[in-house]
Amino acid sequence: MARRPPAEPAPGPGQRGSAPPATGLDLRTAPALAELPVRPGPGLPPEPRYRELLARHPVLALIGNTPLVRIDLFREELPGVEIWAKAEFLNPGGSLKDRPVLRMLAEAWLAGALAGRTVIDSSSGNAGIAYAMIGGLLGVAIELVVPGNASAERQQRIVAHGAQLRLTDPLLGYDEALREAHRRAAAEPDRYYLADQYANPHNWLAHYHGTAAEILAQTGGELTDFVAGVGTGGTITGCGRRLKEHDPRIEVSCVRPESFPGIEGLKPLGAPGDIVPAILDQGVIDRWIEVRSEDARAVCRALARQGLFVGLSSGAYLYAAREVARLRGRGRIVTLLNDTGERYFSTRLWQT
Ligand SMILES: Cc1ncc(COP(=O)(O)O)c(C=O)c1O
Repeated sequence: MARRPPAEPAPGPGQRGSAPPATGLDLRTAPALAELPVRPGPGLPPEPRYRELLARHPVLALIGNTPLVRIDLFREELPGVEIWAKAEFLNPGGSLKDRPVLRMLAEAWLAGALAGRTVIDSSSGNAGIAYAMIGGLLGVAIELVVPGNASAERQQRIVAHGAQLRLTDPLLGYDEALREAHRRAAAEPDRYYLADQYANPHNWLAHYHGTAAEILAQTGGELTDFVAGVGTGGTITGCGRRLKEHDPRIEVSCVRPESFPGIEGLKPLGAPGDIVPAILDQGVIDRWIEVRSEDARAVCRALARQGLFVGLSSGAYLYAAREVARLRGRGRIVTLLNDTGERYFSTRLWQT
């Protein structure tokens, strides 16, 4: 399903007869762009206060409503199964994280909780970009705690949108970034608003009301499986809950990446000390699928030959989708293409 571009303005009645404007666009008769209808961004409740926010900041209305694309990679090998993926890399921030961050910031902003405060959170990078982009737009100060091995592309974009970046020891993983964000917020509670994407219910609600609702609309509610991994657990919890409410027979498979070298954006959740995100509902998960970074990388490279240029976790989701397809034999599997592959030029992903 394609995104619908705004309707072309019809030629105005005053255009014929008067000198044609050099650009072909006569601003005297064209409808003001602000008058074009703004639909609420998916994942936001359909209330007037959200409509007003989006009307004031139309960039936000570009978030969500992503196409669902058929993946051809395994079609010959597994003819009984269709695999489809939400093209989340088309969000304006280049990843799925625009959705939950929009909802978390919009809620706090509309509640007046952000006045005079700096929003702080930890991120593997993609949520950081979304916070920086949306916070910059709303005029909210943003500070992000990110592991020092987040790709250079992520770090540079966060700074480009005007946010502050704090780096933690890469060897201590995402959990250290999370702990550091909590330490800073606790030390200066008047200064910081801790958005806490790992515990904020608006994270999974954005996927419940947005991503999953779109999947149901785009498949006519006819799917057998959903595949995702866990960064914060927002996607798998929100989509898993909504899809199972629709049809309890839908099975949810969860990607478990190997812990080293790891897959950007995904937590292994295997070791006893790993912090399990508070919003993760493990009750929606029917099976875990182990994925090695090298396998995810091979899928990314094959996808690139099919016109889909996506990051490592998307390769991992599709590798897992193929495993599910083998197990199930028949059905329709839906997964996500989480972010753009252009965010990984400085990593091993595309190096030959
Ligand atoms: C590239 C990428 N893939 C997957 C995920 C996992 O998404 P979630 O946080 O909803 O579990 C993230 C989260 O940051 C991510 O950045």
